[in-house]
Amino acid sequence: MAEIISLANRVTRIAPSPTLAVNAKAKALKAAGADILNFSVGEPDFDTPEHICAAGKKAIDDGHTRYTAVPGIQELREAVVYRLKEDHGRHYTPEQIQVSCGGKHGLYNIFQALLDQGDEVLIPAPYWVSYPPMVQLAGGVPVAVPLAEQDNFDLDPDILERCATDRTRAIIINNPANPTGSLFSRRALEAIGKMALERGWLVVTDDIYETITYPDEKPPHILDVDARLQDQTVILNGVSKSFAMTGWRIGYSAGPQHIIKAMNKIQSQSTSNPCAPAQYAALAALTGPQGFPAVMKQAFLPRREFFVADLTAIEGVTCVKPNGAFYVFPNFSAYYGKSFNGKKINDSVAMADYFLDEAKVASVPGAAFGADDFVRFSFATSMEVIREGMIRIKKALAALG
Ligand SMILES: Cc1ncc(COP(=O)(O)O)c(C=O)c1O
Repeated sequence: MAEIISLANRVTRIAPSPTLAVNAKAKALKAAGADILNFSVGEPDFDTPEHICAAGKKAIDDGHTRYTAVPGIQELREAVVYRLKEDHGRHYTPEQIQVSCGGKHGLYNIFQALLDQGDEVLIPAPYWVSYPPMVQLAGGVPVAVPLAEQDNFDLDPDILERCATDRTRAIIINNPANPTGSLFSRRALEAIGKMALERGWLVVTDDIYETITYPDEKPPHILDVDARLQDQTVILNGVSKSFAMTGWRIGYSAGPQHIIKAMNKIQSQSTSNPCAPAQYAALAALTGPQGFPAVMKQAFLPRREFFVADLTAIEGVTCVKPNGAFYVFPNFSAYYGKSFNGKKINDSVAMADYFLDEAKVASVPGAAFGADDFVRFSFATSMEVIREGMIRIKKALAALG
């Protein structure tokens, strides 16, 4: 069909989420009968706990099926305030909380509320795939701050200094990070905090993986560096990863009231409010037993050990051991330039395609995360799948000449 209607520049500048695209391709191949092992998914391989599902069902039976307040129901915002106090000793009021349609939507609201055309946002790279396009959709300019594998993907203050300009408005911290699973050190956070205070940057701290850390420690947090930072920081979090609730689409932000108010204005003109029954389910998650992330971690831990050990045993492959989340991010660049059946593999997209076509293993190319030497594998899948996947990956790499 002829494409008579042209599209907005803003949409032609961005690509669809590559992680969701790979996942959809893997699922379609599987549905067509291919024996695909899927390592591309960014969600826990656990069902939402029963008491949370029950609260969602009860909410429907109780008639919570209408619009709610734009920033979310009062009880849920109070529950977020309670968790921030109870778990981290931080003080917020319900007016400083916005509930959104997933953490992703919270970030979208932040950038829409904050950025003007040409405003720069510092994004440590490797980064989560959605940060740069979300900044671009708001008219901003994403500026990658490179992190080195040999530093365990910690941030180097000198490099940060070099990336900052007088157009910098904000910096994103993702502790633990997707895709590396790494944590920023206290030293790195202190450098960020100092520069943010001196230059008036907004700090966006994406804490969505905070309950999934190895060892069992709370990750260092930017707000522990200097209490004054709370006036220029927005915390982004949600129930998707901690409570295996990815499909319920509930995230939340906590920050200065004028920023949350601006985000509410954006939300009021876009989604109105997050799904009402899902908010009641999230309320049960935040006010009920908090042991679920530990149950998931018990399953994730041996998978992480096996995956990292098996990957790093392959000649030429390096892999930083993740301190959080459920991804490994091995470096395959030693294999770039090699070929299979006359086809050269020169980058992470070609490598991930090769794994999918020849090994029937779905992964996400590092290029999507701003790091082309790497490929991301999620270990939110069973140990059997990981064992079989590693056999296939090794075989595929050995077949390259
Ligand atoms: C780093 C990071 N932040 C935020 C999100 C958004 O989570 P959701 O929108 O599913 O709540 C994700 C999901 O993959 C993520 O990896």
